[in-house]
Amino acid sequence: MTRTQVGIVGAGPAGLMLAHLLHLEGIDSVVLEDRSREYVEARIRAGVLEQGTSDLLVETGVGERMQREGEVHAGIGIQFDGERHRIDLEALVGKSIVIYGQTEIVKDLIEARLATGRPLLFEVGEVAVHDLETDRPRITFVHEGARQELECDVIAGCDGFHGVCRPSIPAGVLTEFSREYPFGWLGVLAEVAPSIEEVTYCTHERGFALLSLRTRQLSRYYLQCAPDEELALWPDGRIWEELQTRVGLEGWTLAEGPVLEKGVTGMRSFVAEPMRHGCLFLAGDAAHIVPPTGAKGLNLAIGDVRLLAETIVDWYRSGDNAVLERYSPECLRRVWRAEHFSWWMTTMLHLPPGEDPFGYRLRQSQLRYVVGSRVAATSLAENYVGY
Ligand code: APR
Ligand code: PHB
Repeated sequence: MTRTQVGIVGAGPAGLMLAHLLHLEGIDSVVLEDRSREYVEARIRAGVLEQGTSDLLVETGVGERMQREGEVHAGIGIQFDGERHRIDLEALVGKSIVIYGQTEIVKDLIEARLATGRPLLFEVGEVAVHDLETDRPRITFVHEGARQELECDVIAGCDGFHGVCRPSIPAGVLTEFSREYPFGWLGVLAEVAPSIEEVTYCTHERGFALLSLRTRQLSRYYLQCAPDEELALWPDGRIWEELQTRVGLEGWTLAEGPVLEKGVTGMRSFVAEPMRHGCLFLAGDAAHIVPPTGAKGLNLAIGDVRLLAETIVDWYRSGDNAVLERYSPECLRRVWRAEHFSWWMTTMLHLPPGEDPFGYRLRQSQLRYVVGSRVAATSLAENYVGY
């Protein structure tokens, strides 16, 4: 039996950032991850950081590479009806976003963790959490062939949507809210200089497309597809052809290049309430999922662990269990704002199968309003940069 203060399940951005924030406060933790370091560092995810997220990385000493390699963007594009419009985030709400891949943040956080000498274990099997309603919760797991037991003060479930922590909460405790969307995204990473200066959301009669980027040499593009779309139906040539159709403008085409990676993701909205049971705290995708249209997933995960770290610090300082009560309700207020924004962006920009002319006209009207009214654009901007 070994002991730690905070047992952290999952080494995604939530688990790694929590470990980092706790370390800065002198709080001990053990991070347990079921995948290999190589796998976690190769997983391609979104890449839009709210200003609050990028500021936190810098303030806590893990933003150095992001400041060097990331790009600050002061606006985003919205394209429909053959015209491209710009939402000037900086002018409307005085904040901007940073383009820097989630994968890169994960690499930076792993490096920072390893440099502290505190434990981060990869390829851990059979993780299970126990005694959540007591003040001595335990995590059992198998590492390098040996069965181990870790006694903790609190456990942080940062193990994503498919993790073990949320399902370990007894039936009847959680209320789950969810919505599935009748479409998904086909994402491609291409080795070509991005043809756009800013992230551009495009809607077209054939469906949604998103133009994004990673670096000056790497473009990240997405196409609305069926939720269970077969990747085999999408050779590179078809992807480029469909992108050109959906995003092309008179006198402007998308530059093409070798496709390095492609994949299909379904889209869902999901929230589990409350985000705490006894001494188990859920954070990030373990507690909630948003469709990617608002670029909120990573930012929500970072917001959760910022509050969780503060809560744990207050608890150790005060010794008062009542401070633990604040975590879930405070998180959920921010989570639901992002849930609404992500749902709203998704329904405005995607073509639902079988859309009737009434629905189409409502979407068009909303899009025209958002780019035409300073008040509407400000609302979008305020949510996009993080409310
Ligand atoms: N034991 C240990 N680790 C686990 C287990 C388990 N049983 N199950 C899952 N994990 C690990 C996963 O391998 C992953 O590395 O937990 C980690 C969860 O990380 P993420 O899925 O990245 O979730 P989170 O850290 O909450 O970050 C949210 O990631 O999925 C994106 O769009 C999402 O941007 C958002 C961000
Ligand atoms: C991305 O760059 O991967 C990206 C950008 C914006 C989104 C989602 C994903 O809304």
